[in-house]
Amino acid sequence: MVDQILQEMERKGYALVSNLISSDELVAMNQFFEDHRGEFTPAMVGASDKKQRVESVRGDYTYWIDALEPVKPFDKLVQFLEKLREAVNQKFFLGLQQFECHLAYYPPGTFYKKHLDRHESNSTRSLSFVFYLNNASGGELVIYNKQNEILKVVTPEAGSFICFMSDEFPHEVKAAQNERRSFTGWMHTKIIY
Ligand code: OGA
Ligand code: MN
Repeated sequence: MVDQILQEMERKGYALVSNLISSDELVAMNQFFEDHRGEFTPAMVGASDKKQRVESVRGDYTYWIDALEPVKPFDKLVQFLEKLREAVNQKFFLGLQQFECHLAYYPPGTFYKKHLDRHESNSTRSLSFVFYLNNASGGELVIYNKQNEILKVVTPEAGSFICFMSDEFPHEVKAAQNERRSFTGWMHTKIIY
């Protein structure tokens, strides 16, 4: 799986694979959403000193996972990401040090307008990744190039995984029709924890 991701990254700057983990784990992950729903908080936009909720920009709810001590059932996924980080560093010399990650759900009707994951207040974000926990209806991830041309439209499927260079690909999440669940994060070129 890691090799396939590296090859696609080399060719295109992003990679998409399916069936990253077993269906038992997916069930447990979805159960985690049910059990912890009340602990998710509205995702904010803007730099740390002036964060605000702007539902016309993004409407998801998030729950941060500690990548150093991940709660079950996300520990294996975090282990995989650690392997990926090391492999990407070996192949592309990116110097990725650590990653941050959160769970996210988009209630029906919510979306995330086009954006770039690397911005001034997050200038060390280098590799973005998203792991999908359920099959979405609507809620496509649309990936653009810097010329604003659509490169890829990803319909989220349970168990699929995408990663892309954070500063190269503007992207958006189209309005979800059912609750859309993911595990999303960013690898940084500095120590963040
Ligand atoms: C993000 C994001 C994409 C997705 O959270 O920054 O762009 O498909 N997510 O969930
Ligand atoms: Mn993003």
